[in-house]
Amino acid sequence: MVGFKLNGKPVDVDAAGDSRLLWVLREHLKLTGTKYGCGTGLCGACMVHVDGKRAFSCQLALSEVAGKSVTTIEGLSTDRSHPVQKAWLAERVPQCGYCQSGQIMSAAALLAETPHPTRDKIVEHMSTNICRCGTYPRIVRAIERAAREG
Ligand code: FES
Ligand code: FES
Repeated sequence: MVGFKLNGKPVDVDAAGDSRLLWVLREHLKLTGTKYGCGTGLCGACMVHVDGKRAFSCQLALSEVAGKSVTTIEGLSTDRSHPVQKAWLAERVPQCGYCQSGQIMSAAALLAETPHPTRDKIVEHMSTNICRCGTYPRIVRAIERAAREG
């Protein structure tokens, strides 16, 4: 049994400590907003926050988050009111949508650390996240909007 805080609430998961956090979230806890893309730390589809910092959930063992605080896309806000979510809607960022929860989690982590990033900083930070639909220009615009409008 491994305990941690998930989207603000304590959870105990009955799974092996070396289970990947991504599958614990999706299979055990039924939070399917966090996506599986590559499974190798290369695409960012599985991005969550651990103690406020972004992390590839496909690369984290459950035991590594014991006692920590994990936030998934479902916990970013209760009503889609996070500035990044509002900006995403305003800029109509998603195309197929598959990569988008990971993109949003990455963007939210950036703005938490750097509320007014330069465009270069945005591009560099978001290079961890791949979008097969090529929504990159809209992603940059949405992050700039979120930084501007808060
Ligand atoms: S699924 Fe984790 S980085 Fe691709
Ligand atoms: S919106 Fe389709 S993969 Fe990014």
